[in-house]
Amino acid sequence: MHELTKKFGDFIAVDHITFQVKKGEIFGFLGANGAGKTTAMKMMCGLLRPSSGIATIAGYDLKTQSKQIKKRIGYMSQKFSLYNDLSVTENMQLYGTIYGVKPAALQVRIRESLKDLGMEKYADKLVGAIPLGWKQKLAFATALLHKPDIVFLDEPTSGVDPIVRREFWDRIYKTASTGVTIFVTTHYMDEAEYCERICIMSNGKVMMIGTPTQIKTDIGVDSIEAVFSKFVKR
Ligand SMILES: Nc1ncnc2c1ncn2[C@@H]1O[C@H](COP(=O)(O)OP(=O)(O)OP(=O)(O)O)[C@@H](O)[C@H]1O
Ligand SMILES: [Mg+2]
Repeated sequence: MHELTKKFGDFIAVDHITFQVKKGEIFGFLGANGAGKTTAMKMMCGLLRPSSGIATIAGYDLKTQSKQIKKRIGYMSQKFSLYNDLSVTENMQLYGTIYGVKPAALQVRIRESLKDLGMEKYADKLVGAIPLGWKQKLAFATALLHKPDIVFLDEPTSGVDPIVRREFWDRIYKTASTGVTIFVTTHYMDEAEYCERICIMSNGKVMMIGTPTQIKTDIGVDSIEAVFSKFVKR
């Protein structure tokens, strides 16, 4: 993407951001509350129209081909995106259908996903009744039902315990290893270290981009946390 920008009135939420993400890469988006991470992600998903700038997502032009883009991406929103009053299977059926998966293939995909997650026993439980860590993993699996090229995860591990976060990251690695590009936001500095490259944002602007090691070396500190406190002014 090149100089992608979003203004809300006079306020610039995303300020001329430019970078490229490789296929199959795990790319992390870091920044304080209000830095513009979600807004940038929503533009990349075709959910928000950019004020200016250009982007190519999964090979399609954001301005003219957002319909095609939506078919090739998965999105897990910052707020939990499944319906609490539908069962695990019903949620997957609903989202799979919205993502355009044909009914027969969808049944197979749902079975495979639940097996892979070890969630078969939850298949008929209401989503509202299962633990948050399971919900998050389920939301991730749901965003993958249509086998997208890129999946956008907005704070997918927020509020879950360290063990579940580690398990979630194992799933991220497994998914990326199949060639799916992972675009993830997080406030957890240990997770930043799990990314292949990270982008640090502040006030809508890109402050730094690189591998965690590169960034730490460039700044001359030994943790991403130290980089973060240096760059991110609240
Ligand atoms: N629809 C909107 N109208 C006006 N301002 C908005 C809108 N959406 C977001 N903003 C503002 O844009 C800025 C960036 O918000 P955004 O949600 O992208 O930040 P974020 O980096 O995702 O933060 P967080 O870490 O809290 O999720 C904030 O100041 C927010 O209040
Ligand atoms: Mg956000």
